[in-house]
Amino acid sequence: MPIGTPSNWHLDAIFYQVYVRGFQDSDNDGIGDLNGLISRLDYLQQLGVTCLWLMPILESPLRDDGYDVSNFLAIDPTIGSVADFERLTKAAHARKLKVITDLVVSHTSAEHAWFQDAKRGPESAYYSYYVWSNDDKKYADARIIFNDVEDSNWAWCSSAKQFYWHRFFAHQPDLNYATSEVQEAMLANMRFWLERGIDGFRVDAVPYLFEREGTTCENLPETHAFCKRMRQLINDHYPDCILLAEANQWPEELIEYFGRGDEFHMAFNFPLMPRIYMSVKQEDRGPIVDILERLPAVPAGCQWATFLRNHDELTLEMVSDPERDYMVESFANEPRMRLNRGIRRRLAPLMDNDRRQIELLYSILLSLPGSPVIYYGDEIGMGDNIYLGDRDGVRTPMQWSSDRNAGFSQADRSRLYQPINIDAIYHYQAINVDSQLHAPASLLNWLKMMLHARVSHRAFSRGDITFLDASNRCILALTREWCGEIALVIHNLSKLPQPTHLDLSRYQSLVPHQLLGMHRFPAITRDPYFIILSPYASLWFLLQQPSPSPEA
Ligand code: BGC
Repeated sequence: MPIGTPSNWHLDAIFYQVYVRGFQDSDNDGIGDLNGLISRLDYLQQLGVTCLWLMPILESPLRDDGYDVSNFLAIDPTIGSVADFERLTKAAHARKLKVITDLVVSHTSAEHAWFQDAKRGPESAYYSYYVWSNDDKKYADARIIFNDVEDSNWAWCSSAKQFYWHRFFAHQPDLNYATSEVQEAMLANMRFWLERGIDGFRVDAVPYLFEREGTTCENLPETHAFCKRMRQLINDHYPDCILLAEANQWPEELIEYFGRGDEFHMAFNFPLMPRIYMSVKQEDRGPIVDILERLPAVPAGCQWATFLRNHDELTLEMVSDPERDYMVESFANEPRMRLNRGIRRRLAPLMDNDRRQIELLYSILLSLPGSPVIYYGDEIGMGDNIYLGDRDGVRTPMQWSSDRNAGFSQADRSRLYQPINIDAIYHYQAINVDSQLHAPASLLNWLKMMLHARVSHRAFSRGDITFLDASNRCILALTREWCGEIALVIHNLSKLPQPTHLDLSRYQSLVPHQLLGMHRFPAITRDPYFIILSPYASLWFLLQQPSPSPEA
């Protein structure tokens, strides 16, 4: 067991979210697998990401794409084996890539052996692993998360002749964390994978572990207490591993998941994500600045995970009702683009495939505090397919090349787990890794350059942030400072060229050098710094001491 001082690698990481089933098929059954992923590690290393987050890979009936686990100690046979997983972590580590996977803690699949046995009723040793009731009236204040498909958090079990509790699909019964056996079993599951070389977990659906009458059954103190137990396990035996919380909550509740540095190392910044889109749509920095000013500082050793898109709908739970209406109207004018309380579209279609806006969103993401998480395929601007069910439209096969099945699989096209995108704009022959690698000005090459620039300067990952009071609200200007390194980033959120004055007087006499290319801008003086940005442009600078002479 590796014991030592944590290296805090997560503070400077760039995550890449891999949907293993959709990434690369190595055995031509039409489904991506671990061996396929291994064959693509060189690509990921060159992209410049530093940690892979694998979506669920454990045995599952796949009624929620693996978020319905039927065996916590086995890899789903369609994806590979435990031995493949160990090979993957070794191969990734050899390329200095970390690997984390989803740990689905709050529920199991109804097909899990525990639930199958529990259904026998109170005489089963596993009955207490789940939450049962004679009626469906308890915990009435808990919201329904998948409100498009479920109308209650209770489902009837005809065999136990009782209702069981579920926060997601009815086929995902919630585990009963009030039972110590459940807590111990989940800690044992963690240990099993930690011993196999994993670098941590993205812990799924964290807020819902406990239930208590008269509450929303979210963020309860009991839930935090169990999260601290998970952290203790990491601290005691695997100190270089991390826990990343999926807690889709308002800032005040979300920040609690860091504890005092004794709970999660990281948490997704759900409140920030929709506000990045809102700021760009409204051409106003307000939504971004307001939410970041409202978010308390994270404890030392902790870090946000920031993101633009993921495998779920673009969730709009952490915005007000009018803001949600505005987002839906702006980004999802067709009913099929909507799901639950969100929008099931990928980054490029959300931005109308406008390269300038896509770059702007990435630029904003990379300039803000937190470790960015890139969703597979969004580095090349893949499209979505809103005519597929549930969230499948944002999980179509990775587009590697213009070859058969986009280079994803050699299987018959009809065997693929999901159809490849062949729509007019996002067709795999137009949007694929291969062609973008060969086009110097492609989105992929641009992003690679930006990621390399970001990881080379810790001001972006660890630095304090200060928003500058630009005279023009279309301008989002900020500095990041860390150990004497000062970065200045200016974004134009508008579709028009925009002028602005910036008060940079505290940096008087320093010279802005463009981060890429080190081209020099005029030195900063006591006067307001005047600058004009072209539509949706971002300027990235390091502020440096003037050199003795222009030639030096
Ligand atoms: C995951 C979803 C999943 C749900 C239930 C989430 O929060 O991100 O994809 O459907 O948990 O496990």
